[in-house]
Amino acid sequence: MSNQNKSWHERLHATMPHGSSTTSKNPVYLPDEPEIIVRGKGCRVYDDKGREFIDFRNSLGPVTLGYCYPEVNEAIKAQLENGIVFGHPTALEAEVSEMFCERVPCAEQAKFLKTGGEACAAAIYIARAYTGKNHIIQIGYNGWLNTLGVGAKILPNQTSMEKPGVPAQISALYHPTSWNNTEAIEKLYAEYNDDIAAIIVAADYRDFEAGRTFYPWLREFTKKHNSLLILDEIVTGFRVALGGVQEYFGFKPDLCVYAKGIANGMPLSVYAGSKEIMQTCKMPGFSISSTYGGETLSLAACRAVMQVHAKHDVVGHIWKQGEFVWGELDKMLVEKGIPVRMMGVAPMKQIAIQPDAPADMHKRFFSAAYRNGVSFYNTSYVNFSHKREDLEEVLQRMSRAIEEM
Ligand SMILES: Cc1ncc(COP(=O)(O)O)c(C=O)c1O
Repeated sequence: MSNQNKSWHERLHATMPHGSSTTSKNPVYLPDEPEIIVRGKGCRVYDDKGREFIDFRNSLGPVTLGYCYPEVNEAIKAQLENGIVFGHPTALEAEVSEMFCERVPCAEQAKFLKTGGEACAAAIYIARAYTGKNHIIQIGYNGWLNTLGVGAKILPNQTSMEKPGVPAQISALYHPTSWNNTEAIEKLYAEYNDDIAAIIVAADYRDFEAGRTFYPWLREFTKKHNSLLILDEIVTGFRVALGGVQEYFGFKPDLCVYAKGIANGMPLSVYAGSKEIMQTCKMPGFSISSTYGGETLSLAACRAVMQVHAKHDVVGHIWKQGEFVWGELDKMLVEKGIPVRMMGVAPMKQIAIQPDAPADMHKRFFSAAYRNGVSFYNTSYVNFSHKREDLEEVLQRMSRAIEEM
């Protein structure tokens, strides 16, 4: 059969495991769910069948301003005229790292990579070299690097005890534990006391406010034990506050990593920290280096994103509009007796199927939303282009979806 007679879904699965380079993006509820997206504008995306969706996936987090946001697109186009990546440093690299360090509390020095997982790996590597210790405690999803630890989240909503492809000796150095579980951390320190290099932690979105006490506890505890505290701000940075949870809750980690949100979808990640710790990068025999770290289209986009944040209260908008749409949707679901709840904080809302719900409730809820032109994900994000009128339209569409259910 020629490719012409195959669906996009078939073609993707024929040459690509999971049918998508990002496992979580593979459609599971066809034909209601879009098979492929052909373009996006503002808070809306369009599939190959001409259907329009008001989108809360935002590429699973990075699109914080909106698709094709004019200032960011203009910045990318202007830089494109001058070249993409060079064999020398650029002014943009200096300017963007200065701007980043001005905005992120613990950052005195920063370096760029392309993906969140890569930046987490870099921070862990620095922590090991700086402390001379080996073990790592992991909290939350930190990218596919999590596959190293038995019992870690291997995807944001998936945990696995199986570790194919990971030697047991390596796996033994990674200790995934749950959010706000001080007892489990104390136990690990009792076992590996002098050999824990760092705790790397990504916030739990449902129980986010526990961070108010958990983060200061982590800060003191890691200091006391001469381990480093690494904040995974890949989702929280430029979203709960420009400076992420460290600004929101008011404390400084030793190292932090940012990615989604800093360049409105362009592939850019940052690892940053105090000058003293970041100078580990220059230790003899140590090396983190990547050809594309200083790629300029992403840096130009990042500079434009920071300029947009300086001009507008993007974070305030995300909180306010998020509280409105998730609050109203939650009310609607309660009124209609649908066993689905909106959980956690407004900037990264969790769509939670209730434990007593029928087994197909996830499919029914998401499919009804798709059929009525709303694209959710388990973690759903409001962006700066979701205006009040768009969100009112979402509530009308969801009212129809809930009636159908
Ligand atoms: C909190 C968190 N950390 C790290 C990552 C990994 O980032 P990337 O997918 O860019 O490697 C993700 C991705 O979803 C994430 O949500």
